[in-house]
Amino acid sequence: MIKSLCYAISLGAFACQQTAWAGEPASDAPPAAPRLIKISTARSALTLFSAADGRLYQLDFGPATRNPVAPTTVPAREDEFHPASGNGFILEPAVQAFHADGNSSTDLVYVKHGTEAVDADVVLTRVELKDRFYPFFVTLCFKAFRDEDVIEQWSEIRHEESGPVMLFRFASSAPVLPRAANYWLTQFQGNWAREANMVEERLTPGIKVLDSKIGVRAHEFRTPMFFLSLGREANESAGEVIGGTLAWSGSFQFAFELDTDNRLRALCGINPFGSQYRLLHGQVFVTPAMIWSWSDQGKGQMSRNFHHWARRYGIRDGTKPRPVLLNNWETTVFDFNEPRLVSLFDGAKEIGAELFLLDDGWFGNKHPRNDDRTGLGDWQVNQNKLPHGLSFLADEAKKRGVRFGIWLEPEMVNPVSDLFEQHPDWVIQQPHRELQTTDFRNQAILDLTRPAVHEFVWSVVDSTLRQNPGISYVKWDANRFVSQPGSTWLTPETQSHLFIDYTWALYDIMARMARQHPEVMGMACSSGGGRVDYGALRYFHSFWASDNTDPYARVVIQWGYSHFFPASTISAHVTRSGNRPLKFAIDVAMSGAFGVDMDLNRLNAEDRKFLATTINLYKEHLREVVQQGDLYRLESPYDQPRAALNYVSTDRSHAVLFVYQLKDSTAKAVKPQGLDPAKRYQVREMSLSEGAASRMAKDGEVIDGATLMRDGLVPPCTKEFDSTVIELNSSP
Ligand code: GLA
Repeated sequence: MIKSLCYAISLGAFACQQTAWAGEPASDAPPAAPRLIKISTARSALTLFSAADGRLYQLDFGPATRNPVAPTTVPAREDEFHPASGNGFILEPAVQAFHADGNSSTDLVYVKHGTEAVDADVVLTRVELKDRFYPFFVTLCFKAFRDEDVIEQWSEIRHEESGPVMLFRFASSAPVLPRAANYWLTQFQGNWAREANMVEERLTPGIKVLDSKIGVRAHEFRTPMFFLSLGREANESAGEVIGGTLAWSGSFQFAFELDTDNRLRALCGINPFGSQYRLLHGQVFVTPAMIWSWSDQGKGQMSRNFHHWARRYGIRDGTKPRPVLLNNWETTVFDFNEPRLVSLFDGAKEIGAELFLLDDGWFGNKHPRNDDRTGLGDWQVNQNKLPHGLSFLADEAKKRGVRFGIWLEPEMVNPVSDLFEQHPDWVIQQPHRELQTTDFRNQAILDLTRPAVHEFVWSVVDSTLRQNPGISYVKWDANRFVSQPGSTWLTPETQSHLFIDYTWALYDIMARMARQHPEVMGMACSSGGGRVDYGALRYFHSFWASDNTDPYARVVIQWGYSHFFPASTISAHVTRSGNRPLKFAIDVAMSGAFGVDMDLNRLNAEDRKFLATTINLYKEHLREVVQQGDLYRLESPYDQPRAALNYVSTDRSHAVLFVYQLKDSTAKAVKPQGLDPAKRYQVREMSLSEGAASRMAKDGEVIDGATLMRDGLVPPCTKEFDSTVIELNSSP
């Protein structure tokens, strides 16, 4: 049976889906016998069943080959798959609602489920749950990506009660982990300029919460991703690991509850903190997707699963090469004019950059944007700095064979701006509290829940791009978080909708940009890594990993992000930060989405040449395998004295190995992984300055994959900041 299901999300946007219900639809009476629902990928499966009490329980989350049998007796409530608070469930709930009549309990029972083959790789399963008494529905939605071993889960909550229902909890996903003697949790925490630092700990009884409460630039202190290793600390290539990441740029919460029977539940979703949602009759509350991947070959395989999924489904234009760009931020900061920029285009051309990215400072007239105190919000080109406008610059870049991109921070405003003078009520603020801006880069956040603001922000993006068709890239920044949540638009009863409705409005604008300007590529930035998630990356090609561009620190930051995000998304620019050897800085950037941000005029002729040579090398030999290949993390920077990783092309004919020496040590072989044991690879050290001979003993030799993986190669690296890039090519 085909049923058309149309729903309105809280913003009033509409979506329609066709669902074929495989199960017997819809008597509200619970089924008598256990009914299995298996959500499978090639190697993993999440198995649920409805028991005789009508509730939905979790049977297994693990290998697809395991065929668990549902018990005939009703399990413990703690095994409920998506537990609701109130009627007997006393642990951390996935759903908590106060019904229109004030009843604070919800008791969800299975109604029906359906599956739909979206294509040969993807199956959508929808499981409808309903309260035993109230017309209150929770539909659990799963997308299983077979080849990628990824399962997305989200839920849709709606009701037909006589008045609003208050939602207090609305997890996207809350599975119980497979039973293990112990559970090791790895999170990615940090702050500005030290993002995605990994911390692993053994979970102890109680609830461990990883979260964000700051709404916008929400990932400043923690990226919404984690993995759990079962039974022992995580390993790259062995052991059972489950990784999860939430596709949401707002506040999030991951709560890990280890109960007294050593059962671990991971409750993941939008942070309910201060965000209770008043759901109207007929409205559908759609949670963001929680994206899971299970691996029994350690976290290396887990990462490759996420990367495969991301390139095919999770990010914009996943297989399109990311351009090598020259950014002017660390060269000029706000201090530039037309001739200066045009002269930088010459440098871009000389080194072979494909795109010039004009950063902050190009706008504002009455309040020129000459530092971070003024002009934000006034998106008119500054007449003094750039009298001929952005299109002139784009044309000048084009004359040199270089594309042109710009920085935008459309959600934000300086109080010293035309925009704020005209619309002081447009910013996120609270009554009777002084607006705090001084500690937050002198700026406030536009309240996207207000329709006029929503349209204004869209018009900034749209008109800038329409008026300047030469712009082919946008770096979308967001440099402050919410410290005083409040809206002059929302009613007193709906103030707590702010973070959620803001994020949906933001996605609406980003989606329109991607749809209406499909040729314009994008980088998501938020003071570095304040907005790194698969919610935003649907609309962007990469993200700015950190304002910390010291390559020594970047090795660690990029390592962290690589657990969930493919190299094509991790923008990595060569700068002079930290004053490291130029080769080290270049080699570190080459393992991500390569770019440059430095004053080329400060480089001597030899270094400029070297930079040009390595950019050419990246474009011609490495970009494809780095951005599209399989990642193998070989030696962790956390273990010192060096870090090493390699990428392998899908057909395993081509690989590249990176080694970064972080401390002095003796020479020691590094062993690449993922090669074809039978293929013979020519070994070639790359990223050498002109005329320099490799110091690697096996340079130029042809060696089979099995030997390379068993014996490794001794890289020419022993001193701190030595680095090497080694190509392994079976069809040179
Ligand atoms: C943020 C970004 C930087 C740069 C500046 C411009 O800090 O992370 O890369 O764009 O803003 O103001």
